[in-house]
Amino acid sequence: MKVTIDNITIEVAPGTTILEAARQIGGEVAPPTMCYYSKLKGSGGKCRTCLVEVNKGSEKDPRPMPKLVASCRTGVMDGMEVKSMTSEKVIDARKGVTEFLLLNHPLDCPVCDQAGECHLQDLSYENGAATTRYEYDRRTFEPEDIGPHIQLHMNRCIMCFRCVFTADQLTETREHGILDRGDHAKISTCISKALDNDFIGNVIDVCPVGALTDKTFRFKNRVWFTKPVDAHRNCSNPKCCGEARLWMRGEEVYRVTARKDEWGEVATASNGQTGWICDECRFEKKQTSDWTIEGPTKVNRHSVIAQGHYQGKVGTATQPILIDEVIGKRPKLTLDIHKVSEVNKPEIHLSEIEGPAHSDDFK
Ligand code: SF4
Ligand code: FES
Repeated sequence: MKVTIDNITIEVAPGTTILEAARQIGGEVAPPTMCYYSKLKGSGGKCRTCLVEVNKGSEKDPRPMPKLVASCRTGVMDGMEVKSMTSEKVIDARKGVTEFLLLNHPLDCPVCDQAGECHLQDLSYENGAATTRYEYDRRTFEPEDIGPHIQLHMNRCIMCFRCVFTADQLTETREHGILDRGDHAKISTCISKALDNDFIGNVIDVCPVGALTDKTFRFKNRVWFTKPVDAHRNCSNPKCCGEARLWMRGEEVYRVTARKDEWGEVATASNGQTGWICDECRFEKKQTSDWTIEGPTKVNRHSVIAQGHYQGKVGTATQPILIDEVIGKRPKLTLDIHKVSEVNKPEIHLSEIEGPAHSDDFK
């Protein structure tokens, strides 16, 4: 099936969603997602951050869709034409959704362990307003202890359901879920049971905000001060891929997480399965001697410590990104720095250098 998204046409298999097609194109054409998670069955359709405009339904029925649609839940049709970052309506809707998600979300990034790799922080950076129109007190919840390893900050939860799907699909015993309704809805264990089984730590990795964080890492460091390193070990748990990311400072391992891909989702492991890790690897193996270190991580685009954010994001002859369509909205996607600035040396591409730019790289 042929689908055109932001003027870029690709062919995808029948049954592909608009979001997955946009991810195949890559870059910022792919809408942001706060609840969809490609590795979790049934996820998506909750947050509305992935809204897109369909201005041609299909070759057979070219009528546009009357409203913006959730791209994570809408399948492509042959000849469909979609606008994501090139649509005023979509950009406006994303602003609205971001404002809505932030109504009750506390602005405690300075003390939140998720800061620097929080998807809501990224979303508000790209689409948020500098001020709030909300006049009322934010919704708050009584703190609940959900066990020895995982800290729940319900005030930060955006009700994406990812952690519930994770517990449902990865563990034999799901102890938590969403209780109550409307603005009383909350993640809870109901009778304050502990989340305790060998795979439950993965809820930390799927949580897009700081609602579920690692107690063993809590308040110990900021992610941008730590150095991510890929490592593996022979884990005896047959479900665990044993491939992880160590967040180190000096010789000390501060945190162990699963490896993430460019969409901020747990990446595919070398055995072809999703790279979920067990709680023993995550919470107990905090010595470098527990692991075989592979080398520094190439960090995904969501992290503040990522390098090469814009690498390869300039359109090519075969996949042009039409500047007329996107300029004024996301010029960073399309501009070649050498054509608009003479600040750095023309033979040096800042997006491709190893490590941070140095004064020698400029004129
Ligand atoms: S705790 Fe995190 S993963 Fe679970 S529903 Fe809330 S935001 Fe989503
Ligand atoms: S990512 Fe599509 S609705 Fe949340």
